[in-house]
Amino acid sequence: MGETILKYNRLYDTVLEITNGRDTTYIDVITDRIIRFFTPVEDNDWTSRAIEEDKHKHVAFEIVAEGERLVVITACYKIYVSDDLAIDIRDMSGGSVVCDYTGKRTKQKRITDNGLALLEAEGHSGSQEEKPAFSVLKKLDGDEKFYGLGDKTGYLNKAGYEFVNWNTDYPQVQAESVKALYKSIPFVLVLKNTCCYGLFFDNTYRNIFNMAQESRDYFAYHCYGGDKNYYFIGGNTLPDIVSGYTYLTGTTPLPQLFTLGHQQSRWGYSCAQDILEVAKGYRDNDIPCDVIHFDIDYMDGYRVFTFDENSYGKRGQIFSTIKEQGFKSVCIIDPGVKKDTGYFMYDEGMAFDYFTHNTDGTVYENAVWPGDSVFPDFGKKEVRDWWASKQQILMECGVDGVWNDMNEPASFKGEIPPEIIFYDEDKAATHAKVHNIYGHNMARATYQGIKEATGKRPFVITRACYSGSQKYTTVWTGDNMSLWAHIQMAIPQLCNLGLSGISFAGTDIGGFSHDTTEELMCRWVQLGAFSPLFRNHSALGCIYQEPWRFSKRTMDIYREAVKLRYSLIPYFYDLFYTGQSTGLPVIRPLVLHYQNDVNTHNLNDEFMVGENLLVAPVVNQGETVKKVYLPAGNWYDFYTGKEYEGGKYYLVDAPLEMCPVFAKEGAIIPTYEVVNYVGEKAYDTIRLIVFPGQGEYIHYQDNGTDYACEQGEYNLYRFTSEKNGSEVKTELIHEGYEKYGEIIFLLRGYGLV
Ligand code: GLC
Repeated sequence: MGETILKYNRLYDTVLEITNGRDTTYIDVITDRIIRFFTPVEDNDWTSRAIEEDKHKHVAFEIVAEGERLVVITACYKIYVSDDLAIDIRDMSGGSVVCDYTGKRTKQKRITDNGLALLEAEGHSGSQEEKPAFSVLKKLDGDEKFYGLGDKTGYLNKAGYEFVNWNTDYPQVQAESVKALYKSIPFVLVLKNTCCYGLFFDNTYRNIFNMAQESRDYFAYHCYGGDKNYYFIGGNTLPDIVSGYTYLTGTTPLPQLFTLGHQQSRWGYSCAQDILEVAKGYRDNDIPCDVIHFDIDYMDGYRVFTFDENSYGKRGQIFSTIKEQGFKSVCIIDPGVKKDTGYFMYDEGMAFDYFTHNTDGTVYENAVWPGDSVFPDFGKKEVRDWWASKQQILMECGVDGVWNDMNEPASFKGEIPPEIIFYDEDKAATHAKVHNIYGHNMARATYQGIKEATGKRPFVITRACYSGSQKYTTVWTGDNMSLWAHIQMAIPQLCNLGLSGISFAGTDIGGFSHDTTEELMCRWVQLGAFSPLFRNHSALGCIYQEPWRFSKRTMDIYREAVKLRYSLIPYFYDLFYTGQSTGLPVIRPLVLHYQNDVNTHNLNDEFMVGENLLVAPVVNQGETVKKVYLPAGNWYDFYTGKEYEGGKYYLVDAPLEMCPVFAKEGAIIPTYEVVNYVGEKAYDTIRLIVFPGQGEYIHYQDNGTDYACEQGEYNLYRFTSEKNGSEVKTELIHEGYEKYGEIIFLLRGYGLV
């Protein structure tokens, strides 16, 4: 073995510059377990849009030469750099974790360029792929499972698939062959038999993740611009990896309590009367509902920050009328500003030069709902501040949340060309660079504006986003359809969003476009009752989807699901509370907590809510018996307390009325009284359902709206239970808010029910 030709220079206490005489790369030790690898390719831009604070822990590490290689040694990993600058990451006992693949690209053979195939199906995969600016190839050991990547289509485990990060408005059927959807979260978690890790490629240009589909030898990240800039995130378990990723990009802040309630939306409520009917429908039919969403119909000619007073009455009136009935209002705001002289948003934006530009300096135009439109350049701070200040218009009319849509950005007259000038903070950049963070920046501005205007925890919903958007916004998965394939996809989508740091997420319940069926509606609301964002939404032109539009049986099932959700609101709130520090999501795939159990690796039709509830909704048409896998430990039917031994599959009765839910041994599940809407009555009593087993549960309580909690105005309780249920204890571990009048323990599963 020769000596290393590599030279290194410790640039700062954390950053090493390493050169082989030809090329230079940088290794930045963020923590013992998080290492950044940076190689300048095009921009030499070290800044991040996902990571906002300095995350360096300034840990000690060593650099030694070992034969031809240089080794960077932290407390947890050894990073070998060879003379071609290839990286090989090993654990402290030398076991391989992940290693650069340095051979040739060995694409799997396929029969291509056959004119006949192309004749039959244009766009057949015979088409030539554009050459990436650079690629990162990592050696495949063959046992990798791939998770994360945000809202991508298909299944939980992405092995064998390729996906594209380029925020895309995709209103067609979203089968697993669809490579790009609305969000770009370039973060993948890899689970192997012996270890797990994450890779976060913090680069906003178009990029491709190819997970063992292109080759049997490596998995690949191909990127179309910018720099090679990625983070290795290590840890012993998948929760460590999620926590590491959210340590970098931020966790989801505690939302307002009402945002956990049930919400009704519809594209096509065209006047105040339509909204009032919906409000009445919910109260008359005894189905709890907290929020009504106002889709584009409420605006004057789809001009953002305006109101159609002809159809909706005096400005703000409708919001206060429904507020009296306990409903909050959320209004949609799209980025496209109608090109319309005399319209204040257009005039102001033109006067201050706030819109994106063509390369010749003229303002760029495309079309969205209002027709010809221009696009705020959200990359610029002054544009975000301007947009933030406009939230006041909605807030002072009594609006409670803002729904940002079409912010990929969508454009009806063809995709925005890559060279169009979009700013990236104070630098002129291109659409190619900024596209994937356009929605992120818009949501950030919206969050800032609502916070400034109200002093409350902002409720923002976005369709497009990037890594780190979870700090500002909730998301929904965009335009699904009322198809069984799409309810099936909802579970892996929500699970992978959660693993990608986006905890507050939901799907359009019932399906957005296409007509739903009674059965699909029932199954979707049962699933939706466990998704953090719980909103029924549907498209213009589809049949009505409010629960009373269906048969009595469907409406009863719908009501039951919503009421179950309302009883569990404190459990959801607690998960958001703990998620702020752990980064762990509300909805979790089983693999997150049972990574050594192979039965969980590809489990697409069950999920966990926190660590204590396992939900197994029926997602197949006509099915009334559900195959459920319960991992190790004892489990209890949530409703009846019937005991099940884990580590086995069960066939569980699941007639249309039933969504199987199980509680883990030792679970203590907090519940509240079911109300018509959050805030209807004070939650003076908490009831804890205690299942057999030794349990400990931390419960958080505050005013559910503002930031008084940051001044200590909250309570934290610790509830513990002994194995036989005989002893249940309460301890107040932080006191700063009005306490419950009554704490009631309900034993379930002790043979007492
Ligand atoms: C987009 C949104 C959808 C909305 C519609 C009209 O398709 O994804 O939710 O209803 O636009 O605003």
